[in-house]
Amino acid sequence: MKSLNPTTTKSWKDLKKHYLKIKDIHLKDLFQNDSNRFEKFSLNFKDIILFDYSKNRLTTKTMSYLLNLAQEFNLKDSILSMFEGKKINFTENKPVLHTALRNFHRKNIILNKKNISLEIKNVLKKIKLFSDAVINKKWKGYSDKSITDVVNIGIGGSDLGPFMVTEALKPYKNHLNMHFISNLDGTHVIETLKKIDMSTTIFLISSKTFTTQETITNANTIKKLFLNQNKVLESDMSKHFFAISMNKNEVLKFGILEENFFPIWDWVGGRYSVWSAVGLSIALSIGYKNFSLFLKGADVMDEHFLNTPLKKNIPVLLGLISIWYNNFFNAQTEAIFVYDQYMYKFSTYLQQTNMESNGKNIDRNKNIVSWQTGSIIWGEPGSNGQHSFYQLLHQGTKLIPSDFIIPINTHNQINNHHIKLLSHFFAQTKSLAFGKSIKEILKDNNLEKNTFQYISDLNNDINIYKLCHGNQPTNSFLLDKITPYTLGILMSLYEHKVFTQGVIMNIFSFDQWGVELGKSAANNILNELKKKKLTKKYDSSTNALINFYKLNKK
Ligand code: F6P
Repeated sequence: MKSLNPTTTKSWKDLKKHYLKIKDIHLKDLFQNDSNRFEKFSLNFKDIILFDYSKNRLTTKTMSYLLNLAQEFNLKDSILSMFEGKKINFTENKPVLHTALRNFHRKNIILNKKNISLEIKNVLKKIKLFSDAVINKKWKGYSDKSITDVVNIGIGGSDLGPFMVTEALKPYKNHLNMHFISNLDGTHVIETLKKIDMSTTIFLISSKTFTTQETITNANTIKKLFLNQNKVLESDMSKHFFAISMNKNEVLKFGILEENFFPIWDWVGGRYSVWSAVGLSIALSIGYKNFSLFLKGADVMDEHFLNTPLKKNIPVLLGLISIWYNNFFNAQTEAIFVYDQYMYKFSTYLQQTNMESNGKNIDRNKNIVSWQTGSIIWGEPGSNGQHSFYQLLHQGTKLIPSDFIIPINTHNQINNHHIKLLSHFFAQTKSLAFGKSIKEILKDNNLEKNTFQYISDLNNDINIYKLCHGNQPTNSFLLDKITPYTLGILMSLYEHKVFTQGVIMNIFSFDQWGVELGKSAANNILNELKKKKLTKKYDSSTNALINFYKLNKK
């Protein structure tokens, strides 16, 4: 991957000058001056997604400078390097091949003389056989009853993707009840076990390393409780415990049989692993056929990302627009608002994809960056956000670019809910863009139109507090319907947006050294907490906090 200080590129300098010229132009004016604005700044992806980026604070000149920036970084070459399995995860000396997990179009991938496409196919076969057996009630627990519940034990990428996808695709689920335990807080285990009967439950221990403290602690607790049940034998674990990991030795040491082990690979990052056997809970929940459609959706977006010219390439455009706000408007956050209740975990899932990938401050030349890197990602489903934080979007002082996503067709047509939800979706992006002017307030209050007297009165009147400044940028995505296929497309789209940003921010998006610090510090402090003696080992704050705990724990 080409390594450049982005701020020294010609395009960046052009963008800086350009920003000063257009930063105060209002979206109202951009639309008033160009009746074809929508046509210029929207793309229709196979009649499955309409992507409207016209309500952004940019012009065709902005886009050409941003596309020049992508060219200066040879973005296309970097994309190719990823798909071909080059070791672009430089600091861990690994390829980045989550795209290989859903490769239905391209030739087999050979890595270190191994045909990994074949390995992937074999694991997919194992996922199909097992999920079919459980769903068709052929798989029996130790009490010889069929399975009713599935508990996925994992955290981060071994939780967020499977949890979000099984929730988002609930309309496709079968009789199996899905549960996800991730938090180290014992409450997560206790509250989940209240809902299940272990004799008809299977436990999926999902951990790429099989050493993550939260997951292994939760797994050991459940294993102990399972074996403490009356008349349960060690051998009964084979009917109830399964592992998804790349660390076979640790899996076998835990007491899980090889036939209950689903391998994943080192060349798939945790936050990109939902497409691997980490997605076993998804296949169990919606069936293998739907899981395969999910993979196919991601693949069709992969093909788009790989083969479409940059100026028509949706993930590329999304990534560039983010760079524009993050690095020139200095927007610190980006919001994701999905107007679909099943998708309530989508922004949480994207937090890891974005922030664990691009939350970096050393560039690909080993220099500390002098530019902004990863944004803060947040969001809530619509329409709930409108009754919580949209006030700040409409009248606050923060620039918050946001993505609005909605399915045109709902799974739950009832009364006139969906048409109302759509009306909010369209109204919000319109209001955020164009605000509410004096004239509109006059009209609302049935005041005389445009007379100077009224406007001057108005400025002394409380109505001034009703002004909405607008000019808040949004991207709109209209999906046909949230299905396994379209969700795969959407998730792949955002993965590649993050990739695009990382290339141009000149950082490595596929390691996560920052999270190692917290993990090792916790182990060190854990040993300290076990000692009766008051602690003097750390800084005054940490010592005081630990000692307060020691003196007050019951
Ligand atoms: O958050 C750090 C991290 O390594 C993530 O990248 C990963 O998804 C998560 O922890 C869980 O790791 P594992 O799957 O190895 O348990």
